[in-house]
Amino acid sequence: MAARITRQVRRKQPISVNIDGEASRAYAGETVASVLLAAGVTVFYRTRSGQPRGPYCNMGACFECQVKIDGDWQRACMTVVEDGMNITTGARKSAP
Ligand code: FES
Repeated sequence: MAARITRQVRRKQPISVNIDGEASRAYAGETVASVLLAAGVTVFYRTRSGQPRGPYCNMGACFECQVKIDGDWQRACMTVVEDGMNITTGARKSAP
């Protein structure tokens, strides 16, 4: 699991998101990719053949970080979290 930097960091208010149906803490202003990595998620989606994919460029160019957010495919590295967001990843084999 990736850890958040804790020393000398001021975060905005804590919020809650749902990652594959489980509540997880996030902080306003973080990207979805940051929140997923901090929660230990490394498989963001799977290809049609089932190959795992995760963030590569972290700047919106590669599309390897796609997740479903409230039912729509979005690039996790380019999307800022919002309270109550429902994020579906490819962490489970049966997920998108
Ligand atoms: S990591 Fe490349 S588009 Fe998000």
